[in-house]
Amino acid sequence: MNLVLMGLPGAGKGTQAEQIVEQYGIPHISTGDMFRAAMKEGTELGLQAKAFMDQGALVPDEVTIGIVRERLSKDDCKKGFLLDGFPRTVPQAEALEDILTQLDKKIDYVINIDVDHGILMERLTGRRICKACGATYHLVFNPPAQEGKCDRCDGELYQRADDNAETVQNRLDVNMQQAQPLLDFYDSKGYLRNIDGQRDIKIVFADIAELLGGLK
Ligand code: AP5
Repeated sequence: MNLVLMGLPGAGKGTQAEQIVEQYGIPHISTGDMFRAAMKEGTELGLQAKAFMDQGALVPDEVTIGIVRERLSKDDCKKGFLLDGFPRTVPQAEALEDILTQLDKKIDYVINIDVDHGILMERLTGRRICKACGATYHLVFNPPAQEGKCDRCDGELYQRADDNAETVQNRLDVNMQQAQPLLDFYDSKGYLRNIDGQRDIKIVFADIAELLGGLK
C-alpha cells in the first residue's frame, strides 16, 4: 500500500496518519517530523530546516527531496509507505515519480483531506502534542482526559513552535499557493481521492478505511 496524504496545515494529516499506520502496518513518513527530529538532534539538516520552519516557509525542494529519497529506499518501505506532508510542490511530486520509478513502485492513492481554510487557525493554535509518543490532541476538538497529559502514555503535552498565530498564517498562505497545482498534477494521473475532513475524526478515518479496503 503506497499512499500520499495531502491537506493544508491542520487539515488532519497527522491525526489520520496515526490511525492508518496502526491499522495497516506501513511506515509513516512525515517530512515535518523528520525535520523536527533533526532540529532536536542539532544536525546540519536540522539547522537548515529551522530557518524556514520558524517562519512558516517551505524548506527548499532539493533538501526535502534528498531526505525522502533516502527514507523510501529503506527496507521497511518494501511493504508500503504513508507519505505525510510530502510532496508539497510540483517539483517535489515530479521527483517522487522518479524516485518511485527507480524503486519499481507506484502510488496507489493520493488522499487529500479537504477542509475550508477558515477553520485551520483554530485547529492549529489549539493543537497539543505528546512529547513522549507524538500523539496529537486539540484543546477543544480532541481534548486529553487529563489536562496536559497524554491518554496513551501519560507523557507531557506541548505546543509546536510553529503553531503561534503569526507563523500559522504564513504556513497557510504558503501552502494555499502550492496546493492547487499539486492537486491538478495528481488528478491528471488518476491518483487523487478527496475526503471531507470537516467531520468528526472517526468519521474521516472510516471514509479512508473504506477507500483503502479496496486495495487489499
Ligand atoms: P508539517 O509538520 O508537515 O506541518 P503541516 O503541513 O503544517 O501540517 P500539520 O502537521 O500542522 O497539520 P496536520 O494536517 O498534520 O494536522 P493535525 O492532524 O495535527 O510541516 C511543518 C513545516 O515543515 C512546514 O511548514 C515546512 O516548513 C516544513 N516542511 C514539511 N514538509 C515539507 C515539504 N514537503 N517541503 C518543504 N517544507 C516542508 O491536526 C491539527 C489539529 O486539528 C490537531 O489539534 C487535531 O487534534 C485537530 N483535528 C484533526 N482532525 C480534526 C477533525 N476532523 N475535527 C476537529 N479537529 C481535528
